[in-house]
Amino acid sequence: MFKAIRRRFSKSNDAPAKRIEQGNLPVHVAIIMDGNGRWARRRGLPRIAGHHAGMHKVRDVIRACDDIGIQCLTLYAFSTENWKRPESEVEYLMKLPEEFFRTEIDELVSRGVRVNFIGDTSKLPSFTQETVRRTLEKTVHNTGMQVTFALNYGGRSDIVSAAQSISGRVNAGELNWSEVTESVFSNYLSTADTPDPDLMIRTSGEVRLSNFMLWQAAYSEFWFTDVLWPDFGRAQLEEAIADYQRRKRRFGGLK
Ligand code: IPE
Ligand code: IPE
Ligand code: MG
Repeated sequence: MFKAIRRRFSKSNDAPAKRIEQGNLPVHVAIIMDGNGRWARRRGLPRIAGHHAGMHKVRDVIRACDDIGIQCLTLYAFSTENWKRPESEVEYLMKLPEEFFRTEIDELVSRGVRVNFIGDTSKLPSFTQETVRRTLEKTVHNTGMQVTFALNYGGRSDIVSAAQSISGRVNAGELNWSEVTESVFSNYLSTADTPDPDLMIRTSGEVRLSNFMLWQAAYSEFWFTDVLWPDFGRAQLEEAIADYQRRKRRFGGLK
């Protein structure tokens, strides 16, 4: 298995973009957008310059996914652990949603994109919460691709919140503990209305989940690349999807 990961890992760098079959697209693509800091450092720039460059790639990848026909895209933008970073970096990251949606909202609306957020947005600064609120309001009736931003998201926290809500309902006599099946449990997660990610991409050479979608990634196909997020684009996305299409998903069975 380690060998297979290595193989995919090294293959993903310079290979030309592969052709995508229209019939076998992943419904949900999730991306751990990593490597902004290293991208900046390699250019002698402050880390925040990497985050700014990364923001432009968010726009490019949304466009590419929409053009390809992906139905759901989830982008890991800020984890529950990212608060450990220097205050100035966190402050900058919290300002990016405002800049991003100010420049992109018209195109998102014209594409019919429905923007969604997962994670505890109530802990974000009030101006970031205001951006979240306005963006939800402007796109709520759209029926095209769903783009979810994971902001102050943690997979463990998602699971604990679901467990708390379920316990509350059990205590109130509204739900019987024996009715708590996997599918009932899933409905209490922040991703309740979204299918599990079929394809999970991580940039920057790290081969870990970093607390992203722990429950939902149970049967995701993983694709890792050394490419840093600000260098990621349509070519790498197409390569990841083409690789996904060559895999056999068995879900524990034999076919
Ligand atoms: C990803 O890039 C962006 C966030 C986690 C917010 P990083 O900032 O983690 O970049 P590296 O990993 O330090 O290069
Ligand atoms: C994961 O990247 C979080 C996001 C991309 C938002 P990190 O850079 O925070 O992950 P670690 O610390 O390398 O595991
Ligand atoms: Mg990182």
